[in-house]
Amino acid sequence: MERTYLMVKPDGVQRNLIGEIVSRFEKKGFTLVGAKLMTLSKELAETHYGEHKERPFFGELVSFITSGPVFAMVWEGENVISTARSMMGQTNPAEAAPGTIRGDYGVQVSMNVIHGSDSQASAEREISLFFNEQELNNYEKEVNKWV
Ligand code: TYD
Ligand code: MG
Repeated sequence: MERTYLMVKPDGVQRNLIGEIVSRFEKKGFTLVGAKLMTLSKELAETHYGEHKERPFFGELVSFITSGPVFAMVWEGENVISTARSMMGQTNPAEAAPGTIRGDYGVQVSMNVIHGSDSQASAEREISLFFNEQELNNYEKEVNKWV
């Protein structure tokens, strides 16, 4: 079963959106396998966003993502990586469709509420960067036979 790494960013935590965001993925039919509130070190933030290290917004991105706690999560389900990305909406909330998380709750690209892995490879990399095996729960939900 496919897994992805999702993270409510510091703006989403500050704006009390953790419950709303968790609720959307639960109601969709995905399974939460791990979650924790944590404050990222500069090193972890730089590793996580390593692909962007040459971009002009990198410094601002790292300082934003380490500015307060984030809510780190691993979700499981069929096609969860790409479906979560469509539920999040476009990177820039100004371009994100209404009904998506960024479309409904974001204004600026620098504070766009949520992170989600963009491929199988990044999901595997990010899950192992933020969680160890003991923090990930392998379980079946009865309701999943209806999803
Ligand atoms: P990116 O991986 O392109 O977007 P996504 O989060 O949708 O995978 O960029 C990572 C984050 O960097 C993005 O969520 C917000 C920030 N960012 C900016 O601040 N300015 C920008 O111009 C871009 C492209 C991203
Ligand atoms: Mg990305």
